[in-house]
Amino acid sequence: MSAPITRVLVTGGAGFIGANFVHLTRRLRPEVHITVLDKLTYAGDRASLAGSGAELVVGDVADAELVDELVARVDAVVHFAAESHNDNSLTDPSPFIHTNLVGTFTLLEAVRRHGVRLHHVSTDEVYGDLALDDPVRFTETTAYNPSSPYSASKAGSDMLVRAWVRSFGITATLSNCSNNYGPYQHVEKFIPRQITHVLTGRRPVLYGAGRNVRDWIHVDDHNTAVWRILDAGETGRTYLIGADGELDNRTVLAMILEQMGRGADDFDHVADRPGHDLRYAIDAGPLRTELGWRPRYTDFAEGLADTIAWYREHSDWWAQAKERVERRYAEQEWG
Ligand code: NAD
Ligand code: DAU
Repeated sequence: MSAPITRVLVTGGAGFIGANFVHLTRRLRPEVHITVLDKLTYAGDRASLAGSGAELVVGDVADAELVDELVARVDAVVHFAAESHNDNSLTDPSPFIHTNLVGTFTLLEAVRRHGVRLHHVSTDEVYGDLALDDPVRFTETTAYNPSSPYSASKAGSDMLVRAWVRSFGITATLSNCSNNYGPYQHVEKFIPRQITHVLTGRRPVLYGAGRNVRDWIHVDDHNTAVWRILDAGETGRTYLIGADGELDNRTVLAMILEQMGRGADDFDHVADRPGHDLRYAIDAGPLRTELGWRPRYTDFAEGLADTIAWYREHSDWWAQAKERVERRYAEQEWG
C-alpha cells in the first residue's frame, strides 16, 4: 500500500505488546530505525527495550508539540500507547480518557499535518461480549458495544481514526486483536499474575466461576500481523487479529497449575469483576485470505510453557511490580 518503511515511531513501545513489536522488528527488519515514545507509566519499563537498539523518548502521546516533532521524523507510526487494564478503568477511568482518546486525537492531528502513515492498534473488546454457546465470532462488521471504561475509550479512539480517514484523508489502518500472552506482559494481567502468584508462593485467583472465555494469541503472532497490515493493508480498513485460541479461564489456570507442578485445586475463587465480559472470539478470515497472514504459535500449551519459563528466568524484571500490583488489588472489591 505504501513505500517501504525505514523510520518508525512506536508509541507505547515500553509496554508489553509494543516492546515485543520493537524486538521483533529488530530481528526481522534490522534496517528499520525505531523511535519509541512512551510515558513510562506503571505499565512501561525501559528494561523491556534492553538490547533492542531503539531510541526511547520519554513523554506523553497527548503532548502535541513533542508528538508533532517526532512524527515529522518518520514515515510510519504504530500506535500502541494506551491505558490497557480493565480493572484499573473501573477504579479510575480518567487516565483512560486522557491517553486513549486525547492521546489518539493528538497523534491523528500530527499524522494529518505531516502526511505520515498510521497504524492504530486496538482491541476486540470494542465489540462487547458473546454468549458462551453462540457459534458467532466478531468480524469487521460487528456493531460496537463496549462494556468497560477501557473498552469504551478504545472504541472512541477507533472512531476518531475512522473519521480522520474519511474527513481528512489520512493514510491509516486499524486492527482489533484478542487477548495476547507472552514475555514482558505486566503482572497485573491474568496469565502473568497467576504464574507469578505460584512463583511467589501465593494461591492463584479466578474471578467468579472462571467460565469467561478469551481468545488467546501469542504476542509475536499479533505483531507479525501488524507488520503484514503495514506492508499490505488497505487504508481505512479494520483487520481483526486472532489465532483461534478460545479457552475459558478455568482451563488456562488448570494448564498453568499442571505445568508448574501444582495441584488442580490449588487456587481460590474470588469476587468477580463488575460488568465482566463473558466471551470474546475473533474471525480473522480476511487477514488470512486477503493478506496471507498465518499464526506461528498454534500450540497454546507450548507457548504457555515458554511464557512460564520466561517469568521463571526474569524475576528481576517483575518482582517489584508484583508487590505494587498486589497492594493495588488488595484495595479492590473484586480480584
Ligand atoms: P501495556 O499497558 O502493557 O503498555 C502500554 C504502554 O503505553 C506502556 O509502556 C505505558 O507506559 C504507555 N503509555 C501509557 N500512557 C501513555 C501516554 N499517555 N503517553 C505515552 N505512553 C503511554 O499495554 P499492552 O497490553 O502492551 O497494549 C498495547 C496496545 O494494544 C493497547 O492499545 C491495547 O489497547 C492494545 N491491545 C492489547 C491487547 C492485550 O491482550 N494486551 C489485546 C488487543 C489490543
Ligand atoms: O481482548 C483483548 C483485551 O485483553 C485487551 O484489550 C486488554 O488490554 C487486555 O488487558 C485483555 O483484557 P482482559 O480483561 O480480557 O484481560 P485480563 O488479563 O485482565 O483478564 C483475562 C481474564 O481473566 C478475564 O476474564 C478476567 C480474568 N482474571 C483476571 C485476573 C487479573 C481472573 O480470573 N483472575 C485475575 O487475577
